[in-house]
Amino acid sequence: MLLHKHLTPELKSRLERLTTRNGWTLRKTIQSGLDHGDSQMGVYAGDSESYALFSPLLHPIIRDHSGHDLSGHTSDFSLDGLPQGDLDPTGEFILSTRVRVGRNLARYAFPPAIGARDRAALEAEVVQVLSGLRGHLAGKYHPLASLSEAERLELVHHHVLFQQSDRFLDSAGVNRDWPRNRGIFHSADMRFIVWVGEEDALRIISMQPGSGLAQTYLRLQTALEQFDGQLDFAQDSRLGFLTACPTNLGTAMRASVLIRLPHLSRRPDFRARCARLGLAVRGLHGEHSEARDGIHDVSNATRLGVTERDIYEQLRTGIHALMEMESAARKRGHPKVAPGN
Ligand code: ADP
Ligand code: ARG
Repeated sequence: MLLHKHLTPELKSRLERLTTRNGWTLRKTIQSGLDHGDSQMGVYAGDSESYALFSPLLHPIIRDHSGHDLSGHTSDFSLDGLPQGDLDPTGEFILSTRVRVGRNLARYAFPPAIGARDRAALEAEVVQVLSGLRGHLAGKYHPLASLSEAERLELVHHHVLFQQSDRFLDSAGVNRDWPRNRGIFHSADMRFIVWVGEEDALRIISMQPGSGLAQTYLRLQTALEQFDGQLDFAQDSRLGFLTACPTNLGTAMRASVLIRLPHLSRRPDFRARCARLGLAVRGLHGEHSEARDGIHDVSNATRLGVTERDIYEQLRTGIHALMEMESAARKRGHPKVAPGN
């Protein structure tokens, strides 16, 4: 765990007296890592100020995880000159495509630290902006507490809704007052979605069946342009968009496909091959879930020190390579899928 690697006794005594304006302390920063020995990072930020105040601990962790020297982060959404056709036009491998970004608002604490009153104010502010979206982005906001159990499960089953935050986030304080002032906004066609009050204040999501990565990506870009000037997102010149978990800093973008790789994923070096392509592998229902029938969620591994355009390009190239590897592995045989793969 990177927390244990970087938190020396000297650093601990130096930082443990500090508190941000929102009451975020070293103890709160590291609580999740202390509770869960299987954490990869073990730390969360309660607000923008946490990244400055606890930088002697957080910056080395961020450098170690991202491999980036934190010299500066830039954003570039342009796709000029890049291929924009479908990745898998016959639909042989790719079931669906999703691109999301995490965002927090500069004037509020992040979900680990936000208080009940501010959570309600943030929700109202965001819902007001969402209700102004027009055209294919227009939709409706559903407070989590207003959904029946059947509706909630249906949305989770279709990969549209988050579940109650995981044990790592629970230890970081994200589940306080659940489910109040959390919710989901979605367009009529369910292709544009905003989660309010999960791990970050906002998760802005574009998703659709099939392999139309460019279309999915451009829908998200259009939405972000519409928020411009209406929502003041927390950001930093070196760390990019500021998120509760340091793994999401930078672009805060995860672009993924659900892809069927029954032959390739049986190989013991499947994850290592993906890693060499700059790709991370999750299960059928996202982080901490298992793959089923050879179907995996494959996404960009890096979010900091790369642009959105880089992520688009890397996912395209990597997924092409994986589809070729799957076809080659299929020709060699091995039709059965190993359990959990
Ligand atoms: P996040 O991407 O928000 O960090 P998760 O890994 O928990 O978080 O995924 C959230 C949800 O998004 C899960 O239901 C997951 O199956 C779904 N998801 C991720 N990628 C895709 C995709 N390409 N197509 C459809 N659903 C997806
Ligand atoms: N806190 C967890 C860890 O350190 C989560 C890491 C990334 N996942 C996330 N949803 N931010 O392993």
